[in-house]
Amino acid sequence: MKSFDLDSAIRKIPDFPHKGILFYDITGILTNPEAFAWCIDRMCEIYADRNIDSIACIEARGFVFAAPFAYRMGIPLVLVRKAGKLPGRIMKKEYSLEYGRATIEIQASDILPGQKVLVLDDLIATGGTLKAAVELIEEAGASVADIFGVIGLPFLNYHDVLKGYSITVLQEYY
Ligand code: PRP
Repeated sequence: MKSFDLDSAIRKIPDFPHKGILFYDITGILTNPEAFAWCIDRMCEIYADRNIDSIACIEARGFVFAAPFAYRMGIPLVLVRKAGKLPGRIMKKEYSLEYGRATIEIQASDILPGQKVLVLDDLIATGGTLKAAVELIEEAGASVADIFGVIGLPFLNYHDVLKGYSITVLQEYY
């Protein structure tokens, strides 16, 4: 597959959402069909021979990348949502944010024991959100085949939080 300058499609917005934070904005990828297609094609290439049974993705921007991938791979798409959005029997996990706590949920029947699940988000910062998702998937009896982020910010120490798991990102910033 041809290489692509993904960095050029990622907008960098200073002082958002707080002063001193440089925000890496994936909307520049979504509005650039060549960049978006490259991301999905690259994901399909990476996971072609990995025997992934399903993909679990984090609300909201994770959904955008996971849906076309699931379609292309012909695998189930599992939504990991913020609290109170999913009906039926759910499993939930509370986790720490920079300020305060948050909760994510899955529908219990979406993850089957023994499955190999790819867990995706658009951006991995502290890794806290993905760690909570990983714990939910393991509590459901499945295993995590890989953790994927379009963008990774390793200086926020996600490698420590997600220690022991295989992690793949398309674009890292230091
Ligand atoms: C952002 C991003 C990841 C998460 C990464 O989501 O899309 O989901 O934060 O942070 P972490 O690695 O420190 O946990 P946000 O809460 O802004 O949600 P959104 O996608 O719904 O905008």
